[in-house]
Amino acid sequence: MQESIPVNELKVGMHVTIPGSWFKHPFIRSQFVLNSQRDIEKMMNWGLTRVSVEDPVSDIPRAVSHDSFPEASREPETAEAMPPDLMEALHERGIAPESRAAAVKACSKMAMKRLMENTPDEEMISAAKTGFYEVIDCILEEDHLNHYLLAIRDYDAYTYSHSVNVGVLSLLVARRYFGHSDRHDLRELGIGFFLHDLGKIRIRPDVIMKEGLLTDEEMMEMRRHPLYGFDILKETNQLTTECKLIVLEHHEREDGRGYPYGLYGGEIHEYARICALVDMYDALTSDRPYRQRLFPFQALNLIRRKLADRTQKELFENLVLVLGEN
Ligand SMILES: [Fe+2]
Repeated sequence: MQESIPVNELKVGMHVTIPGSWFKHPFIRSQFVLNSQRDIEKMMNWGLTRVSVEDPVSDIPRAVSHDSFPEASREPETAEAMPPDLMEALHERGIAPESRAAAVKACSKMAMKRLMENTPDEEMISAAKTGFYEVIDCILEEDHLNHYLLAIRDYDAYTYSHSVNVGVLSLLVARRYFGHSDRHDLRELGIGFFLHDLGKIRIRPDVIMKEGLLTDEEMMEMRRHPLYGFDILKETNQLTTECKLIVLEHHEREDGRGYPYGLYGGEIHEYARICALVDMYDALTSDRPYRQRLFPFQALNLIRRKLADRTQKELFENLVLVLGEN
């Protein structure tokens, strides 16, 4: 017998059914057994408030396959960056903003994953670009989605989630910082923000996946990813110079201690400085193999103490204001 209960009352082991009216997510089965507390947190992050459970008091065994949330179970078969049904959810104005924001995140993550699990050639970058334009237009046109976009945070598959979190948040900060000035093409900037870590696909998987601290040699290799990303964009010749600079300079630091070039504040492109700031914030507020994530206010306090110049202070203020909308 099924009963509808609030998501925050769910328990590990329960057999849940996601309501049919909820948006058409390609990765999530409508029925599954909850494997861990994290599954429940994920459902909360999606903005889901109630689900049906088979029998809330029954003792359903926990031994379930790992694919309760089969993230990569449905890949698009063509060069399309995203599946049509998810694109539909992106444009469907009739659905709840939280569902639409979830679609924005899911679309971005899927495009990112598809790009980073393959060797991105001209055609793939072009398809991803088209997909990201759709996502970026949705973010830029729909102010009321901001709250939900910032509320949803995935902590799995770090590189994809991180790229998407940084892409969305950088775009929101850039829009607030530049206001309505038409000197900046936010659509193009957005692509650079989403693809800032693209170069990681050329880093050895054992280095990317390593749990624990990297050796000096591995660190050297990891620090090449901005250069690799720049090379890929140059070779595929699909994006603007500004996009390439975001990718190349997003690990430069105001005090000259960044990489790959050790540029100082004013030498770093303004767009890359936005990405660098948000990248730092997202890294600090994410769990990493070598440390737990900080709370947002702790991360912001840490960053605030190191602000170098007026531009960085202004960018920081805009980051705080955008996060305050959440
Ligand atoms: Fe990076």
